[in-house]
Amino acid sequence: MGYFEPAGELSQSDRDISRALASLREEVEAIDYYHQRAALASDPELRDLVLHNRDEEIEHAVMCIEWLRRRIPAFDEALRTYLFTTVPVTQVEEEAAGGSASSPSPVATSLGIGKIV
Ligand SMILES: [Fe+2]
Repeated sequence: MGYFEPAGELSQSDRDISRALASLREEVEAIDYYHQRAALASDPELRDLVLHNRDEEIEHAVMCIEWLRRRIPAFDEALRTYLFTTVPVTQVEEEAAGGSASSPSPVATSLGIGKIV
């Protein structure tokens, strides 16, 4: 595992977060490997197999992100801001901050029944 600071000075929690980030990096690399491999596979059955593998890696990556979201508030905030919206990604932050009236709104995340705690 590649630490950028002295490992002994990192807490157990910090080291676990580093492990999760390393796992996320590895899962994303695997997604890219499988995606490229599928794109060039000439045999349709092999392409489907490799795409299946890619999709498994996507699931693993998302599991890592969820683990990180539960431990790093900035992940939670960013994911709540950017995921499942319909405006262009570069406009999501502006829209979340009040946005312009001409921009389409992000996908509704509330049923309008008040805050659920
Ligand atoms: Fe994986």
